Amino acid sequence: MTPGFRWTTFDLTSQLPGDWQQEITTAAAVADFRDFPRTPILSRESVDVHHISRGRVHASDLRRTLPWLYKLYHDYFLDLARAVCREPVAAALDDRYGIVLNVQRGTTMRFECHVDSNPLTGLLFCTDHGAGAGGEVVFAHDRDAADIGAVERDCSVIRPHAGHLIFFDGRLNPHYARPLSAESDLRVVAVMNFYTESCPESTRPLELNRHTFRQALMARSRPGQRERESATPRPTCR
Ligand SMILES: [Fe+2]
Repeated sequence: MTPGFRWTTFDLTSQLPGDWQQEITTAAAVADFRDFPRTPILSRESVDVHHISRGRVHASDLRRTLPWLYKLYHDYFLDLARAVCREPVAAALDDRYGIVLNVQRGTTMRFECHVDSNPLTGLLFCTDHGAGAGGEVVFAHDRDAADIGAVERDCSVIRPHAGHLIFFDGRLNPHYARPLSAESDLRVVAVMNFYTESCPESTRPLELNRHTFRQALMARSRPGQRERESATPRPTCR
């Protein structure tokens, strides 16, 4: 029998800086909002879905505008990640994807249905969403689920609570974030990649970096920046 999906939750509501939610909301207001093309390799969207609308505060902007959150990723949150894992855990060395903010506003945005390439993911929920408000993270029990409908048929649902940090291994169970129910609502979550000894950062697919950061560079239209990537193929964990 396939084991059920599991995650670990830490309630950090009394341990974050006093105005943490306001600072994050301010940073999220100027996120990169647009239609993001489906992610190569990892997407579990229906074949007719080519773009998903959402917002992102990229890692470099997060480090500049929310330095305390960047620091927490590398120390306290990393300590918590190590507490839930049986093997050594490391934060990403590459700052481009270590920690970012995913942002949804209104009813048309959601997060792509996908599987993770990293063995341990942390989500710090930054906004509250009550029953019926949408914004839940939904994990398929069927590892072969290939679209949102298949995910929803048999799933675990996590409702965002501001200040809760969850850890999970999302490599096998497709998952996505539901759209919000209200046009005026805002959903913000800090997404963190962690790596382990058996699935180190070097296994992150190069194609994923090429896709993600080419898109970000095109969106910003900053001339002169070039992604630096080794052409050496890398193994994958699974
Ligand atoms: Fe994920």
